[in-house]
Amino acid sequence: MSFPDKFLWGGAIAACQAEGAWNVDGRGWSVQDVSTFKPGVSNRDYKAHLHISKQGIMDAIQDTNDTMYPKRRGIDFYHRYEEDVQLFGEMGFQILRVSIAWTRLYPTGLEATPNPEGVAFYHSLFCKMREQNIQPLITLAHYDMPLTMALNWNGWSDRRMIDCFVRFCRTCFQEYGQYAKYWITFNEIDSCIRHPFTSAGIIPEECPNGDVRSACYQALHHQFVASALVTKLLHELVPGARMGCMLTKLTTYPHTCAPDDLLAAQDFELGNLAYSDIMAFGAYPKRMLRMLEKQSIKIQMGPQDGEILKEGTVDYISFSYYMSRTETTATDLEKTPGNTILGVKNPYLESSEWGWQIDPKGLRYSLIELYDRYQLPLFIVENGLGARDVMEADGAIHDPYRIDYLHQHIQQMAYAIDEGVELLGYTSWGPIDIVSSGTNEMSKRYGFIYVDQDDLGQGTGNRFKKDSFYWYQRVIRTNGREILTDK
Ligand code: BG6
Repeated sequence: MSFPDKFLWGGAIAACQAEGAWNVDGRGWSVQDVSTFKPGVSNRDYKAHLHISKQGIMDAIQDTNDTMYPKRRGIDFYHRYEEDVQLFGEMGFQILRVSIAWTRLYPTGLEATPNPEGVAFYHSLFCKMREQNIQPLITLAHYDMPLTMALNWNGWSDRRMIDCFVRFCRTCFQEYGQYAKYWITFNEIDSCIRHPFTSAGIIPEECPNGDVRSACYQALHHQFVASALVTKLLHELVPGARMGCMLTKLTTYPHTCAPDDLLAAQDFELGNLAYSDIMAFGAYPKRMLRMLEKQSIKIQMGPQDGEILKEGTVDYISFSYYMSRTETTATDLEKTPGNTILGVKNPYLESSEWGWQIDPKGLRYSLIELYDRYQLPLFIVENGLGARDVMEADGAIHDPYRIDYLHQHIQQMAYAIDEGVELLGYTSWGPIDIVSSGTNEMSKRYGFIYVDQDDLGQGTGNRFKKDSFYWYQRVIRTNGREILTDK
C-alpha cells in the first residue's frame, strides 16, 4: 500500500474561525460576528450553542467588544499569517485550505466593486504560501456571509443572493485564479438544515409563517444554482482549475440488523447524499423531490435552473469526516452528539469529550461509498480530533490522542486507495488551534500548533509546536509511509 506521488498533504482553516480582525481595513459585519460564546452550556448541547434569535443579533450589534464573540478575534491569523504559514511550511504542507471572507471583499455584499484592502490581504497571504510551496485550496463560502444580507433579505432564502455571490466569486477567480487550482463553493452545503443562520443567513423568526424548513430548502436551491453558475465561471476564467462540492459526511449505520433500522439508516444516508447528488449529477434526485412534496415544501425554481444545474456540475467531491452515527426506530436508546447532529450511541466506538464517536473504518467505508457512487476524484478536506490540550511547564504539549486518531484515519485512507479509490489529498482540520465553529470556544483544539489563547481571548496568542507537529511532519516527508510501516 502507498499514497500516490501527487497526493496532497496539508491542513484546513476557515476565515471566520482564524482571521479575527473583524473591524479593520474595511471588513463588513459577518453573520459570525454575532455568534456568541456561551459559558456554562454543556459542550454536548450543540443545539443550545447554535441557537440564535433576532434579539440576540441586535444585542450583539450593540456590543462592539469581542469578549463574548470569539470569531471576531479568531486567532488573529489576519495579522499573524506570515508566522503561521511559515510553520505550515516547516511541517511540509503542500496545500492549505482557506476560505475568503466575503465581507473583506464586499463588506455588505452589495457593493459594485471590491474593497481594495480586502483584495490585497489575500494576495499577500497567497504570495506567502507560494514562498513556502503551499498551494491554496480556496473555499468561497465557509459559514461566512455579510450580516446585512441576513438582516435585509433573510439570507439565501432570497434569490437576489445568487447575483451577489457570483459577483464576489468572479472577483476571487480574477484575482486569485493565478494561485489556486482547487476550489470549493459552499462548505458543508447540507448544514443549512442544521444551522440555517451561520450556513445561509436565515433568521428563524423572519421565515414566513415560521416555516424554517421551507426557507432552508429555498435557500439551498439558490445555493445549488449559485454553485453551478460559479463552477461554470471558474472553468471559463481559470482554465485547468477544478471546483468541488463539499459535504458533511455523516456516515450512518443501522443500529441493529433489524430491517427497520436498516431502512432508517438508508433514509438518513440518502438524505445526506442528496446534496452532493445535485451538485455532481446536476439534478435533484427524484427521492428528494418526493420528500419535499410529502412535506408540502414548494421550492420556487427559475425557468432556466434545471439547465444551469446540468451545466455546472462539479469536478470532484470533497467532504469533512469526523465521526459516524447510527439510526434506529427504537426510541429509548441513549443518543450522543456528533457534528451538529445526534445519533444513537454505537457501543463499538469510543467518543471524544464532545460526544463525537471516533470511527476510522467509517472513513474507509465513506471513501468507498462516495467513489462508487460518483466515480469522481475525492478530497478529504476536514478530519481531526477536538480535544483539550495541556501545556507542560517546559512548554511541551503532548497529544498522543490526536496522533492516534489521525494515524488510524490516514491508515484507513490507504486501504481505500488500495481498493481503487481516487483520493486527491487530505487537509486535516484546524492544523493550528482556532475558534470552534459549533461552540465558539478555544478549549476544543484540533491543531498541531498550540495557540496560547483561552475562551475569553486571554493569553499571549503565541504559537507552540505540539508533539503531533513533528509526527505530521514525518507523515508528509515520507508520503504516508510513516503510517504504513510503524504499526
Ligand atoms: C466542520 C466545519 O463541520 O466541523 C468547521 O466545517 C468546524 O468549520 C469543524 O470547525 C469542527 O467543528 P467544531 O464545532 O468542533 O469547530
